[in-house]
Amino acid sequence: MLDFTYLVPTKVLFGRNTIERLSEELKTFGKRILIVYGKGSIKKNGIYDSVTTLLRRNSVTYHELSGVQPNPRISSVRQGIARCREHDIDGIIAIGGGSVIDCAKTIAAGFYYEGDPWDLFVLGDSAIKQALPIGTVLTMTGTGSEMNGNAVISNEDTEQKLAIHHSVLRPRFSILDPTYTFTVPTHHIAAGTIDIFSHILEQYFSPTKDAFVQNRIAEALLLTCVNYGPLAIKQPKNYEARAQLMWTSSLALNGLLGYGRITDWATHGIEHAVSAAYDVTHGVGLAILTPHWMDYVLTEETTDKFVEYAQNVWKITGRDTHTIARKGIMKTQKFFTSLGMPTTLRAVGVKEEKLTDIAEKTVMYKPIGKFKRLEKNDVLIILQNAF
Ligand code: NZQ
Ligand code: ZN
Repeated sequence: MLDFTYLVPTKVLFGRNTIERLSEELKTFGKRILIVYGKGSIKKNGIYDSVTTLLRRNSVTYHELSGVQPNPRISSVRQGIARCREHDIDGIIAIGGGSVIDCAKTIAAGFYYEGDPWDLFVLGDSAIKQALPIGTVLTMTGTGSEMNGNAVISNEDTEQKLAIHHSVLRPRFSILDPTYTFTVPTHHIAAGTIDIFSHILEQYFSPTKDAFVQNRIAEALLLTCVNYGPLAIKQPKNYEARAQLMWTSSLALNGLLGYGRITDWATHGIEHAVSAAYDVTHGVGLAILTPHWMDYVLTEETTDKFVEYAQNVWKITGRDTHTIARKGIMKTQKFFTSLGMPTTLRAVGVKEEKLTDIAEKTVMYKPIGKFKRLEKNDVLIILQNAF
């Protein structure tokens, strides 16, 4: 176990109708709020009306930034910062999934930064000093953004998708009402479940050997995805399935699994470069790439970790450790395809001639991966295998 400081300050209001506690939480935010949302799902399912009715009832003045796209763009962030400055905004409420929340977080940090907000992604986390307070109303599970200090933004001009991380970006509160996810389409339930699964794997496949408690928690969360992902797809209004996935999504990436050990994040690094170039849904990209990352990093040295995974998550038995490890990888891919995910990059429109460029972008600032360090050529092989 490595040393760490545990700090997860987001207040989580979990359950049906927790939206009613929104105004109480906003008391410390001030009177002028920016609400940020996506392309319209919250208007169709009534969440927009619930939030704005509450704001009006409590005399909170609000302005809006709508139209945030999946794989949110830096141009939306720029627009949001301008709106905050124009209306002297005190705090932000993000109503949506990871894209909306990440856009809101970057607006919150960019508000206090004099230059262009994209600089924050290039200069690194130390460029962030302060942020407006953020609260979230989560409408889709997967990213864990509702409880962490990360934001991932795409830049259309440079074809990059980069992340920032800072404690000031952690939401002050998050409203997690599982019924708000009842209307999420099947494709996004599947993608979100795989995103959760991948967040857990990125921390589970760690070079830190002594992480017993982290590993057992991780396995419990992986099993929750395996149990409840398919159920949520079959029965979209199954409250328990949605609730289990929602809480697993938050726990998978709020720091809990990563504290006390080194984490990997190579598959995410590659996926972000793919979705920067082709606007692929994040969870879909991960479904395609994860089994190939596993195949590539499975060596004599790493077999034991794969055996631990295969035995504890997929209940695979046998004598030959390499066979057990391989079966664990096959089970992983089968789980993803059972949720309707494609298995090749070609199937989501990626062109072969672009793979080298994607590999270069993946390692543009430094090699990726801590479980196994990957340079440009390693990434290229994984991409070619996944093609
Ligand atoms: O735009 P609207 O109309 O709201 O539709 C959205 C969007 O089309 C729809 N949706 C959301 N809630 C819904 C709903 N449709 C019906 N009913 C509802 N209740 O779902 C679509 C996808 O939404 P999006 O926010 O893009 O999905 P997700 O939550 O998976 O976020 C993905 C983004 O988060 C980043 C990804 O890279 C990607 O850009 N990530 C953020 C992380 C973080 N901040 O910690 C970590 C992750 O690894 C990830 O990289
Ligand atoms: Zn992810």
